[in-house]
Amino acid sequence: MTSLLKFFESQALLVLVTCILSSAEKIVRRPITSPEFSPSGPLLSRAVLVGQTLYVSGQLGLNLTTGALVQGGVTAEAEQALNNLGLLLRAAGGNYSSVVKATVFLANISDYTAMNEIYVRYFTHDPPARSAFQVAALPLGGKIEIEVVAVIDEVEENKNVSPTAGALGDPTEATNSAARRDSSATQLALLLFFLIKKFMTAQ
Ligand SMILES: *[C@@H]1O[C@H](CO)[C@@H](O)[C@H](O)[C@H]1NC(C)=O
Ligand SMILES: *[C@@H]1O[C@H](CO)[C@@H](O)[C@H](O)[C@H]1NC(C)=O
Ligand SMILES: *[C@@H]1O[C@H](CO)[C@@H](O)[C@H](O)[C@H]1NC(C)=O
Repeated sequence: MTSLLKFFESQALLVLVTCILSSAEKIVRRPITSPEFSPSGPLLSRAVLVGQTLYVSGQLGLNLTTGALVQGGVTAEAEQALNNLGLLLRAAGGNYSSVVKATVFLANISDYTAMNEIYVRYFTHDPPARSAFQVAALPLGGKIEIEVVAVIDEVEENKNVSPTAGALGDPTEATNSAARRDSSATQLALLLFFLIKKFMTAQ
């Protein structure tokens, strides 16, 4: 009887270990957009969320209603570009604090100081890593373009994601991933239980 029990125990242990090894979390990739943006067409996604990391496409100082650059030079364009970035950060469940890396492209490096004056208003503490440089030219004759990488806390649980869920792909994916996590936790707990039990019996 005990040997039969032992046999089942070792089989259960084997199944558990196999389950845990095979349930390594699948990384989900989701395109992100916000309703203010026009459809981006086949060339690019406004932003892409890979796991918890959000890659946001370079933003110009575009008025999203007209699709034209805002008037007012580099200051107005920087403000608008950062506002546009903010929409995508929020659509993914983040905000400016989520940004870990920013890249600033300037049509004229002489605008560096003017750009910084706007920039610091958006990244008030724990500023992201950053690079900034002058490029030969920007689309539509823009004076500035900014792209960011952000890390979003609690992607699955974040309620801000639901209003644009359609744009985020299948919302059940998030649920599935949470369920996977729960079941891994259960498996781990069971495995621990078996190991402790084995250890106690061995004493
Ligand atoms: C964008 O353009 C629309 C239409 O001309 C205007 O009503 C709106 O105020 C502009 N937004 C910004 C941020 O300039
Ligand atoms: C930004 O998001 C973080 C969590 O990622 C939160 O702690 C913080 O309060 C948010 N800031 C604003 C201004 O909403
Ligand atoms: C950049 O701006 C400075 C100062 O306004 C100007 O002298 C220079 O010609 C500009 N350079 C380019 C590449 O436009």
